[in-house]
Amino acid sequence: MEGLDGLAQDCESRKGQACSLKELEELRIEFLGRKGKLAKAMTELGALDNADKPAGGKKANEVKQRITELMDQMEAELTAAETGRVLSRFDPTMPGRKPWAGSLHPVTLVMQEITSVLAGLGFEYVAGPEVENDWHNFEALNIPPEHPARDMQDTLYVSDKIVLRTHTSGMQVRSMLKKQPPIAVIAPGKVYRRDSDLTHTPMFHQIEGLLVDRNVSMGDLRGTLTVFVRQIFGAGTNVRFRPSFFPFTEPSAEVDISCVMCGGKGHQKDGSPCRVCKGTGWVEILGCGMVDPNVFKCVGYDPEQYTGFAFGLGIERVAMLKYGIGDLRMFFENDVRFLEQFA
Ligand code: PHE
Repeated sequence: MEGLDGLAQDCESRKGQACSLKELEELRIEFLGRKGKLAKAMTELGALDNADKPAGGKKANEVKQRITELMDQMEAELTAAETGRVLSRFDPTMPGRKPWAGSLHPVTLVMQEITSVLAGLGFEYVAGPEVENDWHNFEALNIPPEHPARDMQDTLYVSDKIVLRTHTSGMQVRSMLKKQPPIAVIAPGKVYRRDSDLTHTPMFHQIEGLLVDRNVSMGDLRGTLTVFVRQIFGAGTNVRFRPSFFPFTEPSAEVDISCVMCGGKGHQKDGSPCRVCKGTGWVEILGCGMVDPNVFKCVGYDPEQYTGFAFGLGIERVAMLKYGIGDLRMFFENDVRFLEQFA
């Protein structure tokens, strides 16, 4: 019984001894552990007379409670002291670290900008499949089987009659099959071609535009694209339409804009030829034309009643010109040093 009393005193006298939570844990084991001092004193209670045993048990419980209290108290003090130490090293006046926020990919940014400009001109957004059948991607667009675009060299075939769409123009067909004129849609998305070098990637992005109504003329096409291009590249941008060929438009044109780098002059300040337009003062940005009557026949529109125009442009190309990016591969490398510049 005396031993038990002494145990509580012993513990109390050693209160200041533990300087860390680790030392406190050692002290706890010394007193309260399975082979500790209290456990030892309690086995000795077995030697007491039966009559004294209840009092002994009670005492043991009191001592155990007292020691536990002491330990908890010490733990609270040590924890508070530790917190104080950490806080004293913390300088609340130090400037914070700026969290790095992600940003949209330049392709997404340009896609959104183009879509919103065209939406402002009244075009409706439509989406369609990247895995397309031969009919929508080629046949309905007046691209016959022997056309070079169908060559295995250019097209990624999933099977005999299924391809990864080589352009967004199939969406012209899908949109016209769904709706009667008047129709004005834009269809942005990924397209695929068997091409991979400095200026070509097997996947890239396009936006297709289509407008069909009565009395739509080449003048409407020119007006729409001129307004569009000036909103994207600036009001001072000049636009030129060059005759071209696409199987699904007639007549067809390619649109050039005055070079964004040299302002159309064709040369740099020091007189050397501009690298972006190779000295011509113009850069090509899209293909377009009046919808070919054969395409109308395929979707069941009467070519005698309706006319329309279509255009398609490459997003990466616009992004390169807009942001002055010299290498197409940068879009797909996901280097954060490149991407964070668009935040
Ligand atoms: N689909 C054509 C291409 O990928 C672009 C285009 C679209 C041309 C619509 C005319 C009309 O090159």
